[in-house]
Amino acid sequence: MFHILVIHGPNLNLLGEREPEVYGRMTLAQLDQRIAEWAHALQADVRCFQSNHEGVLIDFIHDQRQWAHGVVINPGALTHYSYALRDALAAVHLPAVEVHLSDIHQREPFRRISVIQEVCLAQVSGKGANSYQEGLRILLSHLAA
Ligand code: DQA
Repeated sequence: MFHILVIHGPNLNLLGEREPEVYGRMTLAQLDQRIAEWAHALQADVRCFQSNHEGVLIDFIHDQRQWAHGVVINPGALTHYSYALRDALAAVHLPAVEVHLSDIHQREPFRRISVIQEVCLAQVSGKGANSYQEGLRILLSHLAA
């Protein structure tokens, strides 16, 4: 069974009440529940984690690097500027998929740039909660191959 980290970055704790017209009405607890169900159906074991702090996210990636076989990550706004988070993913050398609820290519210009993308297998954007499902699928088929 593959072990997958699902990581949510800053402000995603407010899902459900944060700009629902952009991010939907599902809460983070509901999203994590869906992720657990998808992972179960795909025969994977997931650990979901959210933090508003860059260093805490990096510590989590470091701490979990022996347990995990791969990472699905929605870095929130850190997507667009966190070289430290990018380096953490590169350092642990785990396959990763970047996911976003909204379509980052159809919003403000600053969101079109991802400094995380280059250390990821794929980027899934704009499918709401289903971005995480597709991210899990991409990651697991990569791991199984
Ligand atoms: C986001 C998109 C980011 O630009 C934004 O800063 C977020 C959420 C998304 O899931 O659509 O916090 O990653």
